[in-house]
Amino acid sequence: MDRIRIQGGLPLKGRIPISGAKNAVLPLMAASLLTQETLLLDNVPDLADIATLSTLLAQHGVEIQSTPGNGLSGGRLALTAREIANTTAPYDLVRKMRASVLVLGPLVARFGKARVSLPGGCAIGTRPVDLHLKGLEALGAHIELDAGYIEASAPRGLKGAEIIFPQVSVGATENILMAATLAKGESLLVNAAREPEVADLARCLVGMGAGIEGIGTGTLRVQGVDELYGTSHRVVPDRIEIGTYAMAVAITGGEAELVGARFDLIGAVATLLGEAGVAVWATEDGLGVARGNGRLIGVDVMTEPFPGFPTDLQAQIMTLMSVAEGASMITETIFENRFMHVPELGRMGANINVHGASAMVRGVGALKGAQVMATDLRASVSLVLAGLAAAGETIVNRVYHLDRGYERLEAKLAACGARIERVRNP
Ligand code: EPZ
Repeated sequence: MDRIRIQGGLPLKGRIPISGAKNAVLPLMAASLLTQETLLLDNVPDLADIATLSTLLAQHGVEIQSTPGNGLSGGRLALTAREIANTTAPYDLVRKMRASVLVLGPLVARFGKARVSLPGGCAIGTRPVDLHLKGLEALGAHIELDAGYIEASAPRGLKGAEIIFPQVSVGATENILMAATLAKGESLLVNAAREPEVADLARCLVGMGAGIEGIGTGTLRVQGVDELYGTSHRVVPDRIEIGTYAMAVAITGGEAELVGARFDLIGAVATLLGEAGVAVWATEDGLGVARGNGRLIGVDVMTEPFPGFPTDLQAQIMTLMSVAEGASMITETIFENRFMHVPELGRMGANINVHGASAMVRGVGALKGAQVMATDLRASVSLVLAGLAAAGETIVNRVYHLDRGYERLEAKLAACGARIERVRNP
């Protein structure tokens, strides 16, 4: 298995291009199932999760043409779901990536039936899909669970309804929003997720002919239409990548420009970084980020749905806080079991104690390189950040997690002066 080798201690200096958001592309790809015409997506990053969803969509019968990016601008995907070969999403593909469940809403909305494997647990917790299923039931779908599969049917089509989400869910909002676009009549989604990736999906759906009001707010009003059409859509920049690289620059005491980054995508993160002693400012092409000569300052963090501080940056901010002056209390409110990086950071010299959903981080002077590994994407990149700042050599194992969500990670960091390389195992 490939590993990443890092010689730490060098400040990052230069320009880092920000890719399109993985978590926007995945629902956008699923949206291609809603129309027989071609959906063109631009600014698509080259990532393992996108390849996984392409395989799933291809087995449903979607024709996919992929044009790779050139390193500075992302790639292009052309997806055409003219006819559907089958409406079953098999266990072998769904278990690889939970986001596969996003095909459920579009399939049942356009074809009146879908059979999608239940995703099961994952490294960051149990992650049920009950909100997706209740929302579809409210739209008139009949749902049964059989042999590990969700069987959804709506032979006479879906009907608009009011759906009040008891809890904010990005995936459930996306699934129900897509389904509601082809339902008869009006739907109201209350307490909908406001994440930029949901808004990006909604904008693309409007481009496809959907009637959606309230984009970017917690209340989405959808006027169902009989048919959707092809369109072309540019994927929103990846706010988690922006935050990750901002923290990488901060922890190494460097200064860099994050090209394509935007303040509106990382408001709460930028505010918190400011309190921690990291400057973030707007530039012509994106955002500048720098840490002065002073040590970082410990600040408390609580993860929340957007516009709050994202759970997908919790591991990275913990690495940053592990070398800050003073203590920091980091509370994870979205997922249970999202502290797998803690023992690994401990192996690099961090002082962190977990009490339930909170981690008390007491800043240490410096981290030391070590062999580490993690069981999910964001935990893995938090160890890369630790390695960039640590004295000596760090080896991060299980690189395939990073390949799921960070495009050309080593190349982007190396271009800013990091000593980082992938060690390929035969
Ligand atoms: C999305 O996952 C992201 N994935 C996650 O990114 C991200 O961590 C998460 O949103 C929160 O921001 C994609 O967009 C593909 P949720 P999702 O439904 O949609 C509970 C990454 O590293 N819940 O908003 O699955 C759930 O267990 C990742 O890129 C239910 O109880 O997250 C969690 O506690 C991993 N029932 C909370 O809601 C449901 O039916 C929020 O989850 C659905 C969710």
